[in-house]
Amino acid sequence: MQSAKELYDFARQYLPGGVCASARSNPAIGRPFYVSRGDGPYVYDLEGRRYIDMCISHGASLLGHNHPAIRAAVAQALEIGIICAYETAHHAALAHRLSELVPCAEMARFAGSGTETVMHGLRLARAATGRERIIKFEGHFHGYSDHLYYSSAPPLDQAGPADSPRPYAQSAGMPAALADLITIVPFNDPDALEAAFTRHGHEVATLILEPINYDSGCILPQPGFIELCRTLCDRYGALLFFDEVLTAFRVGLAGAQGTLGVVPDLAVLGKAFGGGMPISALVGKRQIMAHLRPAGASEHSGTYLAHLTAVLAARAALDEYARPGFYERLAELSRRFYAGFEEIIRRSGVPCRLQYAGPRFGLYFGVTEPVWNYRQAAAQNQAMLLTFIAGCIRREVYFHVSAHHGFSAAHTEADLDQALEAIAGAMSDVRSRFMAPTAS
Ligand SMILES: Cc1ncc(COP(=O)(O)O)c(C=O)c1O
Repeated sequence: MQSAKELYDFARQYLPGGVCASARSNPAIGRPFYVSRGDGPYVYDLEGRRYIDMCISHGASLLGHNHPAIRAAVAQALEIGIICAYETAHHAALAHRLSELVPCAEMARFAGSGTETVMHGLRLARAATGRERIIKFEGHFHGYSDHLYYSSAPPLDQAGPADSPRPYAQSAGMPAALADLITIVPFNDPDALEAAFTRHGHEVATLILEPINYDSGCILPQPGFIELCRTLCDRYGALLFFDEVLTAFRVGLAGAQGTLGVVPDLAVLGKAFGGGMPISALVGKRQIMAHLRPAGASEHSGTYLAHLTAVLAARAALDEYARPGFYERLAELSRRFYAGFEEIIRRSGVPCRLQYAGPRFGLYFGVTEPVWNYRQAAAQNQAMLLTFIAGCIRREVYFHVSAHHGFSAAHTEADLDQALEAIAGAMSDVRSRFMAPTAS
């Protein structure tokens, strides 16, 4: 059998960096974590060793891996003939179901990745308003398109002033001219947001945000902040655009917009939406969505958009999320798991802050105060995090090096208790490595 090292050496010859997506390498182990299969809350490595999965496909597999309802949906798609690039009754039915569940989803379009759907949503916002400028928050991530891949995780020495960050291009190869179309604002800073609108309001097509900023760990909006976003968009005629790639169906059936009680004009739903299959939805108010071709003039098309396999999986996933008690059970698991986690942190004496919303959480090593924005999140100690994650993986609990971690509905109390044991062990690794022994 090929070892992980042998596979990595082989993969590196044909895949740049040995991976198919840069985020798949795991710096805590110095290579990607190779998986032979997944089932429920577990992934298995090449030797067949079982790990409790706390990455859970970066949040996509909210039902766990290999869920029978998703398998049945895929089997149904095979039965129908692996239909690609045709409309079926299932497409309209899925859009109709979203209109029942998600407040802003009067109409929907489906595509694959969150990146492409947010990109199309941005084009639609520009078409609908006839404006070009975007306001986005520092530390919020909206996929990898050239228009939006700014200041999601800027190095602090290149991020500009805290109250008016400069747009930091997160990749080589992004056209410099696009930076002129984007204004970056610190999250949870009402004065900075008002100032940005005062300066640029009448040229702003859209204010885009993660309503819960999981891509900087887990940062909730402060009371009144999302309402202010809505008010300013209304005052200046800009569209409020929620990137719910991560929040959709995680914090509730109506997404973060349902939980927070603020309805955006446009939203993108991703990850958990497909139960592990590649699909995302651009949803929004009818008069805005009507700008999409062929009804309107804003293009959104492609051979693989809304592949039936994924459409059927999304329908099945929504049925699972709508089962009575689904979110109550997640809330109960969360309550127990986070209480245990906080107790471990407290007993370890390691400075570490845990922030969470639903079954997803962020960890900030070296930080003890509440984190409300990217600059505070970026002050965390990355070396401690890597030690912690390597310690968990050694103990057969898989964490990816990522801003956010989480569990699925397939995790049981016993799985999470076992994860907590590994977390306690990994926390003592951090203490031994980074903290001077206390005199007894
Ligand atoms: C908030 C948010 N938006 C957009 C994306 C991009 O989605 P995808 O990875 O499906 O392209 C992500 C992915 O992590 C995300 O977290």
